[in-house]
Amino acid sequence: MATSNLPRLDARLGAAFAYVRAGHTAADIGCDHGKLSAALAGSGRCPLVLACDLRPDPLQKARLACAQYGDAVQFRLGSGLSVLQPGEADDIIIAGMGAETIIEILAAAPWVFDARYNLVLVPATKHSVLRRWLVQNGFALRDETLCEAAGRWYTVINARYTGEKREPTGLECLCGKIPGQPGDRAYFAQQNAKLKKYRLGLAPGAESDAVDALIQQMEERICP
Ligand SMILES: C[S@@+](CC[C@H](N)C(=O)[O-])C[C@H]1O[C@@H](n2cnc3c(N)ncnc32)[C@H](O)[C@@H]1O
Repeated sequence: MATSNLPRLDARLGAAFAYVRAGHTAADIGCDHGKLSAALAGSGRCPLVLACDLRPDPLQKARLACAQYGDAVQFRLGSGLSVLQPGEADDIIIAGMGAETIIEILAAAPWVFDARYNLVLVPATKHSVLRRWLVQNGFALRDETLCEAAGRWYTVINARYTGEKREPTGLECLCGKIPGQPGDRAYFAQQNAKLKKYRLGLAPGAESDAVDALIQQMEERICP
């Protein structure tokens, strides 16, 4: 089913849409307004979209947004991936939640630690925390898209389980696959400002030295 009456997606959700594989069933976890679910179903990119949310009111908004797509969108009420059977969706989008919530959702569903699933993650906060957790837990950061939406910089992460667990460097956590993308300097400045802010709470010593070193590396990236 493909219609021309599709919702307008902001830059974040537009980038998330682009990472969803055509022809696959997608689950939009935390669908809220339902725009991404509607776009995926209405464009014909996904034959079936599972629009999921923790709360009834957002899910009701999604029902309205997707009403015209009939059986191409199903609705699930509940937390995270608990509303899905393993294998029901191949492409899983979790957008607009903080990194810790995204991590809780993934950690609570061991079946998603499998290369068949294409993960599209859009953390609202703490991008570095999510990158670190993914790499430590065997997910490869395949790609990222830097986006500006509502005056803030976001990263849209495309990840896939490989089973290779490792400890990422601090710089990798902070910058991910962003270096070289349009807007990267502004993103590094946003990350750098946060580091400097957090550093204020640290006692002098090893931790502080490590943060100093990271700030220096980031500044070298900004002004090479
Ligand atoms: C800020 S909205 C994001 C909407 C949309 N995904 C976006 O990025 O524009 C966050 C949504 O996630 C839902 N949510 C929060 N925690 C959740 C969880 N554990 N499982 C499913 N949905 C959750 C909230 O109810 C809310 O509708």
